[in-house]
Amino acid sequence: MIKRETFKQSWKQTLVLLALLACLALASGCNGLAEPKPIYDIPGGDMDRGRQAMTEYGCTACHTIPGVTRADATVGPPLTGWAKRASIAGEFPNTPENLIAWIQDPQAMNPGSIMPDVGVPDAVARDMSAYLYSLKWNPAEPPWRRNEKW
Ligand code: HEC
Repeated sequence: MIKRETFKQSWKQTLVLLALLACLALASGCNGLAEPKPIYDIPGGDMDRGRQAMTEYGCTACHTIPGVTRADATVGPPLTGWAKRASIAGEFPNTPENLIAWIQDPQAMNPGSIMPDVGVPDAVARDMSAYLYSLKWNPAEPPWRRNEKW
């Protein structure tokens, strides 16, 4: 038979373990209420600065970008729901490295593209990318779809 003291000890340990598991479950969003995480975190990227920079650098002259003032142009493709896109310019996987490179020098990646190199420094390209990856849904979609997990 198991000694009384030993039994008490293991019961305590089980409780501690259960408490730890509960914390983990909450932290990882198992409660179903947590905000969906962005697909990519861009280290050092500031999405608010990026949002403003897209006006300063004239991206708005060609693109529709949700949340960016007067960005409703249709020269280039709309950047709505960017985090859900599979590819950049239909050719490159949509990864932070490719996006940052594209913003800085689209001609190098797709010669003949009409998207110009507008002289975006690396830090600003990171900020812009941080903002674009925060665009998770198309605002034209009905609101119930916006809370969709993806
Ligand atoms: C003169 C118009 C023009 C300007 C200015 C412009 N773009 Fe573009 N952009 C385009 C066009 C056209 C494409 C499609 C290019 C291609 O497929 O080669 C494109 C493609 C893109 C893509 C890939 C879109 C997709 O659906 O694959 C991103 C991201 C992008 N641009 C971001 C930006 C950002 C950020 C800026 C500002 C720094 C900017 N663009 C400035 C015209 C422009």
